[in-house]
Amino acid sequence: MACYALIPAAGGGSRMGAGRPKQYLPLAGRPLIRHALVTLCSVPAIERVYVVLAPDDESWPGFDELSAKLHVLRCGGATRAESVANGLRAMADVRDDDWVLVHDAARACLTVEHVETLIREVGADPVGGLLAVPVADTLKREVDGRIGATVARDKLWQAQTPQMFRHGLLSQALAAARDVTDEAGAVEALGLQPKLVAADATNLKVTYPLDLHLAEWILANRK
Ligand code: C5P
Repeated sequence: MACYALIPAAGGGSRMGAGRPKQYLPLAGRPLIRHALVTLCSVPAIERVYVVLAPDDESWPGFDELSAKLHVLRCGGATRAESVANGLRAMADVRDDDWVLVHDAARACLTVEHVETLIREVGADPVGGLLAVPVADTLKREVDGRIGATVARDKLWQAQTPQMFRHGLLSQALAAARDVTDEAGAVEALGLQPKLVAADATNLKVTYPLDLHLAEWILANRK
């Protein structure tokens, strides 16, 4: 079975408020998206890395230095799930039981170790799985600006990416559940239980301006 990576990068990143897609904002001197692409291209077990762009994206810098593994698909959709589904359809020469690791372009601090842990833990699993971290804070559900309920944090995890599923299963799951915010959600809707693989908080998603500073600090202080 082969392993591929698929990076949906067709979002506008409006919560960043930068006026342009966040994946192209500078992070440690490089476009944000390049960090995760370099990591995924560096994992020997991953044969090809696909990036899904919006069809009208004119800002893609190219990254010729990664061209041995990197393939660009200009088939992004209106939602993340649609971008992933379109990307899965556009991948060439893929078999149903090949693995696909879907990773957010915005998780720039992903390491080769994170990816190899996921592949090791999930590679023999019948369903697939994802990186995640146990919730540390006490959670409150809001009702009109006040606490409506306290949600017990026991057994709660925050989902990260990559999320690793077989091409056939994930395509089927996303065709049936388009309103999900991650791949695991679509697979769960089929009645299956993806495996949780413990990661750490450095694999954060850059969503708000402060996250850029945190990501920069993590990259600078690693090793
Ligand atoms: O907006 P959010 O941070 O949740 O997006 C997660 C990932 O999904 C990002 O890499 C973003 O570019 C991608 N995305 C996409 N197509 C969309 C919306 C988001 O590929 N329509």
